[in-house]
Amino acid sequence: MTEKMAEPRAEVVCVTGGSGYIGSWLVRLLLDRGYTVNATVKDLKDEKETKHLEALEGAESRLRLFQIDLLDYDSIVAAITGASGVFHLASPCTVDQVHDPESELLAPAIKGTNNVLTAAKELGVKRVVVTSSVSAIVPSPSWPSDVPKSEDCWTDEGYCKQKELWYPLSKTLAEKAAWEFSKEKGLDIVVVNPGTVMGPILPPTINASMQMILLLIQAGCTQTYENFFMGSVHVKDVALAHILVYENTSATGRHMCVESISHYGDFAAKVAELYPEYNIPRLPKDTQPGLMRSKNGSKKLMDLGLEITSLEQIIRDSVESLKSKGFLS
Ligand SMILES: NC(=O)c1ccc[n+]([C@@H]2O[C@H](COP(=O)([O-])OP(=O)(O)OC[C@H]3O[C@@H](n4cnc5c(N)ncnc54)[C@H](OP(=O)(O)O)[C@@H]3O)[C@@H](O)[C@H]2O)c1
Repeated sequence: MTEKMAEPRAEVVCVTGGSGYIGSWLVRLLLDRGYTVNATVKDLKDEKETKHLEALEGAESRLRLFQIDLLDYDSIVAAITGASGVFHLASPCTVDQVHDPESELLAPAIKGTNNVLTAAKELGVKRVVVTSSVSAIVPSPSWPSDVPKSEDCWTDEGYCKQKELWYPLSKTLAEKAAWEFSKEKGLDIVVVNPGTVMGPILPPTINASMQMILLLIQAGCTQTYENFFMGSVHVKDVALAHILVYENTSATGRHMCVESISHYGDFAAKVAELYPEYNIPRLPKDTQPGLMRSKNGSKKLMDLGLEITSLEQIIRDSVESLKSKGFLS
């Protein structure tokens, strides 16, 4: 047992999407805090989903893995049975072109959320932390340009449909479904809205947000999206934010989780400054014209005690992890 490992406690919690990038960090921190964790994976036979979790400290005695499909209610019930809290992270996370938005993104995100919340309610779970996204906050083109975006701001569904932005639409509709369920059925939920999550990678595979920084470094990708903003955030901060809003019963509503609200150009310039050996393209200062920068995006979480990792550290931890995992030379 390492120094950081807490005494085992009786409480069981369930993490859906436990095999994923953020999920793995959350499982690790929960085990460190002494929880017993039911973590879900999509395929128990796939070692790429299970091995890194089974190797975590405390896993041998306090981690149980469950195979679920978000559209299969019974598989979810099995994973949540016995848990007093649920962290619902599982959701298809891609910004790539999809062929069938309904089956690939919208149904698992929305119906999956409803299935998880229904099971949680049926099984008497006391609190569910729902992982939404800054993608449920932007794009929001009608938001006044002289006011920083905040938890009060919601993604414009019509704009997403018109521009075929299916991932933000899936996150927005899933979060709205969660709030509706909570209101109608009286289930205690709290929401975390992370920005672009980066930092050390625990699974052997690379997720969508780490691909973004890899693409910037390897291919000089300068694609920016109008009406979005860059809200870099350290993966460990995101995992910790989930635990903070779970453990603090005073935490309510949505919680934006970002190092800052910034422009993509700010991020690219910082990567170029820290790693001059990579050929990072120079971008105009304002890559998201009309967007107000802010350092207070995560105020609600900071008030709960979250210390936000600096952008410099986020980038360093990401690049070093990409190198050590062999994604970057
Ligand atoms: N990464 C970011 O920058 C970011 C920012 C804001 C919000 N989020 C949200 O955070 C959550 C986790 O994202 P991540 O970055 O950790 O992505 P990830 O590594 O792709 O993890 C997603 C997890 O969901 C599981 N999953 C997906 N579809 C499923 C299905 N139909 N049935 C069962 N499980 C399914 C995945 O299983 P497999 O591994 O087997 O596919 C994986 O464990 C998502 O809700 C995402 O929208 C991410």
